[in-house]
Amino acid sequence: MEIKVLKDYNELSSTVADIVETQIKEHLLSKLALPTGDTPLGMYDELVNKKLDWSHVITFNLDVYLMNINHPESYQSYMRKNLFDRTNIYPDHCHFPFRPFSGFEDKISGSMGIDLCILGIGSNGHIAFNEPGSSFLSRTRVVNLSEQTIKDNSRFFGTVDDVPTQAITMGLGTIMESKKIILIASGDHKLNILNVAMNGEVTEDVPASILQNHENVEVYYCD
Ligand code: PGA
Repeated sequence: MEIKVLKDYNELSSTVADIVETQIKEHLLSKLALPTGDTPLGMYDELVNKKLDWSHVITFNLDVYLMNINHPESYQSYMRKNLFDRTNIYPDHCHFPFRPFSGFEDKISGSMGIDLCILGIGSNGHIAFNEPGSSFLSRTRVVNLSEQTIKDNSRFFGTVDDVPTQAITMGLGTIMESKKIILIASGDHKLNILNVAMNGEVTEDVPASILQNHENVEVYYCD
């Protein structure tokens, strides 16, 4: 698969924000699947600056930690801070994985599915919180976070012991039903896993490798 290498983080952020803008302008009723983490922060800033009309947009976050949703590091707090509170999106249109998981899945498929899914990639090849070994057929569910993910994400929490150990994530099967998928990665430390996932064997040991089986995926990288 082609990995489009961009000049720097600003170009990565503006390129992906432009793709989201086009999606929203062409289809007012767009359904987006959205990521958290460090990589999309620039994209969210760019999107806010575009002052788009989000009043018809529906969002589904890829994953949430199992933790107090009002904690500053919860993904609900992250999304409010970085996007939702800075646009005119309706809070009722912003969905996070919830129980029963079948209800969350129904909300996605009931609204004709996700038009555009933006993904990051973990250093172990995870997408959303589908850790290595996740079934390619998996749906929304509770997962245990891998040691690697807990270590990687400890930078947000101060210590490894404060990182939640479980999460709810959209499944790989759920993600693959998106009409279009954009994967973004930033930094040297992501380059090797990105190459393995996009050009190596398609295997559940590298969850992002499933994207090789999707017909409408674009991959953007900057170092
Ligand atoms: P990051 O996370 O953007 O903070 O590197 C990516 C991921 O773990 O999916």
